[in-house]
Amino acid sequence: MTRPSRAGIDLQALQHNFIRVRQAAPHSRTMAIIKANAYGHGILEIARALSNASAFGVACLEEAIELREAGFDRCIVLLEGLFDAAEIALIQAFRLDVVVHHRSQIELLERGRLRRPLQVWLKVDTGMNRLGFLPAEVANARARLAGIPAVSCVRLMTHFACADDLSSDYTRKQLQTFDDVTAEHPGERSLANSAGVLGWPETHAEWVRPGIMLYGASPLLDKSALELDLRPVMTLGTRLIAVNRRRCGDRVGYGSDWVCPADMNIGVAAIGYGDGYPRHAPGGTPVLVDGRRVPLAGRVSMDMICLDLSSQPGAQVGDEVILWGEGLPVEEVAARAGTISYELFCNLGRRVQRDYRE
Ligand SMILES: Cc1ncc(COP(=O)(O)O)c(C=O)c1O
Repeated sequence: MTRPSRAGIDLQALQHNFIRVRQAAPHSRTMAIIKANAYGHGILEIARALSNASAFGVACLEEAIELREAGFDRCIVLLEGLFDAAEIALIQAFRLDVVVHHRSQIELLERGRLRRPLQVWLKVDTGMNRLGFLPAEVANARARLAGIPAVSCVRLMTHFACADDLSSDYTRKQLQTFDDVTAEHPGERSLANSAGVLGWPETHAEWVRPGIMLYGASPLLDKSALELDLRPVMTLGTRLIAVNRRRCGDRVGYGSDWVCPADMNIGVAAIGYGDGYPRHAPGGTPVLVDGRRVPLAGRVSMDMICLDLSSQPGAQVGDEVILWGEGLPVEEVAARAGTISYELFCNLGRRVQRDYRE
């Protein structure tokens, strides 16, 4: 018998979520963000299923090359641009677009021998204070890029810090700052991540850059995926590998800090932090056993979790266990574990087999 932990990946749900992007931002082109192995979902399979995306956004050359070598000929954007001079030849050979967010990258491009046209996305820092040129630096950056003959076209982009919070006026301030910059610098623009796509229509511009919503998790703080009509793409599951009778007062798991409040069945499921299930998920975090919620009991181990089966006395070895996805929103598990859906997806381990459903 093989280890039963599996991530089912529902490609129809992905396509549904992509349609939600198109409905929300019908006049924009879509750069699907598929970095970090498509948020843990499998970059090639996800790219294949997103046949209507106009571009793909990735974090590094390795991800871009994997896509090109698999035959994808669409626009691919390196969201952090180039890391060193040695990358220039590969960026050109694989016909990649680059984000330019720092003067050191302009220097690399000025010194590098560019033989083919290069599409640049100039990143403007409108308040995230992470990457990008400040508004006052944009004119100089553009002028320097214009001096590089191979740079064919410059698009302007920015990234939001608080777009998940619809009650914050920070996004509007960032938008205003960006509008002021782009008024002086014509060309295509891109601002919106998933939260922008669904929550801030005034930010859509020529290109939107959805990530998390494609995978069916909510990008907005106060709205569930269900309310936003997003469908979970990943359902992480495993099976019970033991069901043991414990006595009132027995202590379960590492640290012996979870105490059975009564005589009860404790289930053991084959998944743990070595698979990417969050170690910080506390006792009480919900898990589905045969479709019914039961709470986690005790600490998460590397390959196993223990479950309080007192509400499910009939649960048996072999029963299906769902950790998140269909029937159990990933956001709920993430909140319990003090993290976000993005991190749970990205941490999904390599030993968890992904099963793709068309
Ligand atoms: C530059 C950029 N654009 C868009 C996204 C997509 O964001 P989200 O997954 O919140 O839609 C990311 C993700 O981190 C990003 O770094």
